[in-house]
Amino acid sequence: MTYIRPRAPLDRMLAGIAEAARAAEADRPAAIAAAIAAEAARPDLLDGRDCPCSPDRYIRHLLAENRDQGYAVVALVWRPGQMSPVHAHRTWCAFGAHAGVLTETFYAPGDAPGDPPRPTATRLLAPGGTGHAAAGPQAIHRIANLGCGRAVSIHCYGVTYDRFGDSVNEVLSA
Ligand SMILES: [Fe+2]
Repeated sequence: MTYIRPRAPLDRMLAGIAEAARAAEADRPAAIAAAIAAEAARPDLLDGRDCPCSPDRYIRHLLAENRDQGYAVVALVWRPGQMSPVHAHRTWCAFGAHAGVLTETFYAPGDAPGDPPRPTATRLLAPGGTGHAAAGPQAIHRIANLGCGRAVSIHCYGVTYDRFGDSVNEVLSA
């Protein structure tokens, strides 16, 4: 009798992301968000991965990188009260909540050059909830952990990890 070990949920997610990354660029963020959604709510998703948080700011942990297809997948760990800056993206992105509840606020660009973005809507992201966006200055948001416990989310961006510092977020307001 042959015993086939079931694949871990993170392996399944990463395989799904790799498949979805072959989609045409316009379809890629939504396809990757669907691949993230398929496994994001699994409590054992990050078993065996050490993803500590920090009292200073939310922390990124690299989960996988595909240099051929030009993307990387990270886990973001948020303590209560931690949040991203208000930002747009210089690359496409897809993400999903894994643990805790995140608050995503959407913004419209300021009315005149130099005006700050205006909040337009807010939603809660429970485990399995996802979002995605194309690159560009119009898709502006902020993700925050306004809950009482640690939150974790999975993000995929269309650049390799060494470019995360200057090629992912277009920060518009702290
Ligand atoms: Fe973002």
